[in-house]
Amino acid sequence: MVTLSASAQGGNAEKGKSLFLGKCASCHNTDMKTKSTGPALAADAYGVNVWLEEYSQEDLYAWIRNSSKMVKAGHPRATKIYTEFNNQLMTSFPDLTDDDLASLVLYIQEKGKGGGATPQGDQGGDAVTASNTESSGISSTWLWVLFGTLFLAVVLLARYINNLNRLAQRKTGDEIINEKSILEIVFSRGVVRSLIFFGVLFGGYMLVNGAIGLGRQQGYAPDQPIKFSHELHAGNLEIDCQYCHDGARRSKHAVIPATNTCMNCHKAVQIAGKYNKNPRTGEIMKIYASAGFNPLDGIYFHDSIGKDERLAVYDRWANQKMKDKYAEAYDASEERFRTEIAQEVKVAAQYIKTKDKNTSGKPIEWIRIHNLQDHAYFNHSQHVVAGKIECQTCHGEVEKMEVVKQYAPLSMGWCVNCHRQTKVQFDNEYYSNYKYYHDELKSGKRKGVTVEDIGGLECQKCHY
Ligand code: HEC
Ligand code: HEC
Ligand code: HEC
Ligand code: HEC
Ligand code: HEC
Ligand code: HEC
Repeated sequence: MVTLSASAQGGNAEKGKSLFLGKCASCHNTDMKTKSTGPALAADAYGVNVWLEEYSQEDLYAWIRNSSKMVKAGHPRATKIYTEFNNQLMTSFPDLTDDDLASLVLYIQEKGKGGGATPQGDQGGDAVTASNTESSGISSTWLWVLFGTLFLAVVLLARYINNLNRLAQRKTGDEIINEKSILEIVFSRGVVRSLIFFGVLFGGYMLVNGAIGLGRQQGYAPDQPIKFSHELHAGNLEIDCQYCHDGARRSKHAVIPATNTCMNCHKAVQIAGKYNKNPRTGEIMKIYASAGFNPLDGIYFHDSIGKDERLAVYDRWANQKMKDKYAEAYDASEERFRTEIAQEVKVAAQYIKTKDKNTSGKPIEWIRIHNLQDHAYFNHSQHVVAGKIECQTCHGEVEKMEVVKQYAPLSMGWCVNCHRQTKVQFDNEYYSNYKYYHDELKSGKRKGVTVEDIGGLECQKCHY
């Protein structure tokens, strides 16, 4: 039953993913939660689930195949979403088969449920994990139904056997024991005791699990104040990690770069275009506001220049840039561009201080992702320089992440397991006084020295 229902549902998330990326991603955000040209496709009030819950699958399929037909036919959701998105037309996809659409919807739903939270999920892995959770979702419903049916059968059979027994007893003339009612059975001591026993066991298990997980946040990927993309900077542009995180080689902390590091390039790079399909001025404007930079003159503002004057400069600059970039579209709907840019300027204004007599910039408050408990000590240079461990071993393929997420669990078990398995770079001069290990290595008795061997499992090395 379980396998049947899984295949009857149809579609496969892997196929859905390639269809989505090929046909829909130009207008719908791949995270499924935020809008771009079109609405988010798996948010609370938007997307495929709204259609499936309030209307029907046929309606949804009809919409994707030919949305304007649905609008003309006056379908309530179609007209509502169409007007909400300023009467923009969604492309028609008359060629998509039912199976294609099922795959698309499956992918959209799974991605919406928590692609971001799949712990190890790299680019290719997302869809695989997605289809796994889908089939487990289906099978668990069915399993419950199955479980309920079996339970009912057991109860009925038990009563049946009981009655047969009683009949047999009556025949042989044995004394008939009073029949117990169902309530009496349910509230009998044996049942109540075992219920309490399992309750305590289950509660204890949940409590311990919860306590161990306290403060852990694998998969955490908060929205940052600036949509800074590692995929663009570390992936496409191939900027070295340590150009920005230069603390990693010399200190405990890898360090988040200051705005000045961004300005090294963004003084000149005022608008993207090579990799970013729909660049805008808003994100760069925040950097300028924070750094106190005047992009029209190419120099930093004098401190005496006030907030309003600065914002006027940003407004002028942004309109100029967007006009250069999208000449025809800009001329056609100048009013819309102007209001959108005014909105961007409003956001950037938050990065300019107001209270001080001199108006300088406010630092960008990046949201911290990795955060070990205070009682644990971790040092980057020890691992990156002495241990020669790649950033990606601990942080995943950051150069493929549009938004950084916490890849490793940062649990004690994670640190300790690696210390058990990883060999130290033993030719390091620092280790020359480990004569015993060197002799063993030379005589071939020992293949390598792990971090554990040099005391990497001693509590006080990691705990203050
Ligand atoms: C050219 C841009 C564009 C493309 C490509 C596109 N869409 Fe849309 N989509 C929109 C817009 C805009 C809307 C909002 C309604 C409107 O204005 O027509 C929308 C609305 C939707 C809705 C309704 C959402 C709701 O909350 O009711 C669904 C579902 C949808 N699109 C699915 C898809 C799928 C699936 C694909 C790929 C096969 C796709 N779209 C491709 C622009 C696009
Ligand atoms: C152009 C500068 C730049 C480059 C190059 C860069 N980063 Fe970052 N990195 C940042 C900024 C800014 C943040 C903070 C915003 C964010 O989380 O996206 C950050 C955040 C991070 C974080 C999360 C920090 C936290 O809060 O826990 C990790 C991990 C990270 N980077 C690793 C890398 C790795 C690995 C590379 C190389 C593949 C790399 N970075 C390349 C600028 C950069
Ligand atoms: C080594 C040079 C370099 C550094 C350093 C750098 N960037 Fe960039 N950044 C670029 C380039 C080049 C582009 C444009 C890529 C393109 O053409 O698509 C870009 C694009 C961007 C964009 C996209 C702009 C748009 O129009 O969509 C943002 C946002 C951004 N950078 C933020 C930052 C932040 C924040 C920092 C500092 C932590 C930073 N950058 C550091 C070179 C750099
Ligand atoms: C052995 C595992 C490991 C390696 C290798 C590693 N990191 Fe980290 N990284 C961590 C841990 C653990 C934290 C959390 C530290 C804390 O909270 O004190 C962290 C935190 C960070 C942060 C957040 C800011 C900070 O310094 O606390 C950044 C940025 C970062 N790492 C970047 C990098 C870069 C870039 C590299 C490669 C040059 C790298 N890391 C290599 C484990 C590692
Ligand atoms: C990917 C493997 C890896 C992970 C994960 C890792 N370490 Fe390490 N660690 C190493 C290596 C390799 C060394 C040895 C570096 C050297 O040669 O000094 C080391 C050394 C250390 C040392 C110094 C040990 C000594 O005897 O001098 C400490 C302390 C330490 N790590 C703490 C941590 C903590 C805390 C974590 C987890 C948050 C962690 N490490 C996670 C590989 C790892
Ligand atoms: C390689 C580094 C490392 C070593 C060695 C190590 N710990 Fe830990 N320990 C950690 C880290 C990292 C955490 C934080 C885990 C977390 O936040 O979940 C931790 C957490 C703990 C906690 C808090 C419980 C928890 O899950 O948060 C206790 C208690 C503890 N360690 C005891 C010990 C004892 C006792 C030893 C020696 C036998 C030891 N540790 C050795 C890295 C280490």
